[in-house]
Amino acid sequence: MVVVRRMNLRQNESKRIVHAPAKLNLFLDVLDRRDDGYHELATLIVPVRLYDSLSFEPLSADNDQPGSIEFSMRTCESVDRIPTDSSNLVVRALELLRGRSGCNLGARVELFKRIPSAAGLGGGSSDAAAALRVANRAWRIDWRPEKLASLAAELGSDVPFFLEQGTAICRGRGERVQPIAGTVPLDVVILKPPTSLATADVYHALDRLPVESHRPADHTERCLASLSSALRRGTINDLGRWMGNRLQAAAAVLSTWIGRVQSEFAELDFLGHQLSGSGSAYFGVCRHAQHARRLAAVLESRQLGLVYVTRSCC
Ligand code: C5P
Repeated sequence: MVVVRRMNLRQNESKRIVHAPAKLNLFLDVLDRRDDGYHELATLIVPVRLYDSLSFEPLSADNDQPGSIEFSMRTCESVDRIPTDSSNLVVRALELLRGRSGCNLGARVELFKRIPSAAGLGGGSSDAAAALRVANRAWRIDWRPEKLASLAAELGSDVPFFLEQGTAICRGRGERVQPIAGTVPLDVVILKPPTSLATADVYHALDRLPVESHRPADHTERCLASLSSALRRGTINDLGRWMGNRLQAAAAVLSTWIGRVQSEFAELDFLGHQLSGSGSAYFGVCRHAQHARRLAAVLESRQLGLVYVTRSCC
């Protein structure tokens, strides 16, 4: 049973609070269209310190019935776009974990959303991964990370990345995660224009674009290797040379905001800038925090949307 109710923050010893970061795709190439409707990807993703928060309080089973999952949500933007009922990815993650593990406990879950939705920042996937991680412990299921990751992949292509909690190269649909250890943090500015894009729509738009044929065959692997090495060494001045997002042209077909924001970023001295995931959020990498604050102030003054100054978590 799922009970959706208004948020009522109460302190309780058994309540756990976890933070779910957003992500940015420093590189994303779409390699192939698959028979299952998905696309084969190679992407390098960094988590960033823009967080949703999730509080989780286990509830005991009601006699022979599984305990209820009570879900409530607060958000900075209109809730219209984010489901607050049992179709929310957090509730689906908990129901799936409970069903597969045979656990019959319930939970009171309160989600506070700060990450803009339909923005390519991975908010919903990150929330689902946070819910899986906390429930796995709080419900004493204690599944191994690999088992939890395969459940995560059923919920969404980005969910396994968020279970790993660090910079990673992701392949397949996005669910094959190869962590990159020892990377330096990046200071970034994110801009969320007042348009939202659905991931599936952007992939469909990509399928209608002409295939790019002029790239060398090893382009993708060279970009991934160069970015990984730059992030490990902290030599970030040339980062922009290796960045890229194959979905950006497709997103630009769907919304004129993408081209407009790209032009605004191009006027500023970012080390590199591009769309994150399927958008509509756009970001630029800066030399240091002060540089990020300066460029964010310029973007704020142009009133293009919500501006965030943040840092990647390694
Ligand atoms: O996996 P997720 O639910 O996030 O994907 C949302 C949609 O994005 C899919 O239904 C699919 O249309 C598209 N997608 C894709 N290839 C991927 C990831 C997502 O075509 N690798």
